[in-house]
Amino acid sequence: MSVLEIRDLHVSVETEQGTKPILKGVDLTIRTGETHAIMGPNGSGKSTLAYTIAGHPKYTVDSGSITLDGEDVLAMSVDERARAGLFLAMQYPVEIPGVTVTNFLRTAKTAIDGEAPSIRHWIKDVKKSMTDLRMDAAFAERNVNEGFSGGEKKRHEILQLELLKPNFAVLDETDSGLDVDALKIVSEGVNRAKENTGLGVLLITHYTRILRYIKPDFVHVFVAGKVAEEGGPELADRLEEEGYDRFLTAEATA
Ligand SMILES: Nc1ncnc2c1ncn2[C@@H]1O[C@H](COP(=O)(O)OP(=O)(O)OP(=O)(O)O)[C@@H](O)[C@H]1O
Ligand SMILES: [Mg+2]
Repeated sequence: MSVLEIRDLHVSVETEQGTKPILKGVDLTIRTGETHAIMGPNGSGKSTLAYTIAGHPKYTVDSGSITLDGEDVLAMSVDERARAGLFLAMQYPVEIPGVTVTNFLRTAKTAIDGEAPSIRHWIKDVKKSMTDLRMDAAFAERNVNEGFSGGEKKRHEILQLELLKPNFAVLDETDSGLDVDALKIVSEGVNRAKENTGLGVLLITHYTRILRYIKPDFVHVFVAGKVAEEGGPELADRLEEEGYDRFLTAEATA
């Protein structure tokens, strides 16, 4: 079992108006095999948390810690984090002109495992995952995310997840923009990864719909840069019904 621990994390970003604090004391512990959902209003810092875990250079950690089995994640480069088993599916996946999906996946797999995958197994694995995700074989030869529809980009993120086999995956709004069938297919992909590798999942979402397919063990409400409340799956239903009013009022008077 592995454990990813976030302790009293404070993160800021440089803007034209000066330094802007975004995360204000995040505490979160995720073990492999667990699924944690993070819900919360727009702009509360959910993606900032995801990027900070992945090591995006734009975000400055002012204090606090992120550790993976006691190892200091913040001291690791982006590559080292990926090799240590951390994976981020971005809210807005970026295009990589001139790099095909096939080459991208194989390069990433080789970098993460420290050796090239055996061609025969690799081709079989890629084909199987693409079929499972209902991705047309022609995608393999397209440039990463170039001209992909919103839903195709999200499927490509889950394709990476299935093939790279991380220990922990942060999925930032992987459900946004998916039609009902795609939502099911993508969720099944995440569940397969959970079953096959005992993956720990941090699922950022605005909707309870995906939580019917990917069952969370814990739900965290993220407000104004930190976790305001924690609970089980029932908390997600309550949020859907009531919205975030009670948290925002508390924040305004705090
Ligand atoms: N690079 C940046 N420059 C300026 N402001 C930023 C930057 N990154 C994040 N912010 C600000 O930090 C706040 C938190 O943003 P973040 O993207 O983490 O929110 P979020 O919870 O993911 O929201 P959403 O639900 O809309 O995706 C926002 O006010 C945002 O404008
Ligand atoms: Mg976001």
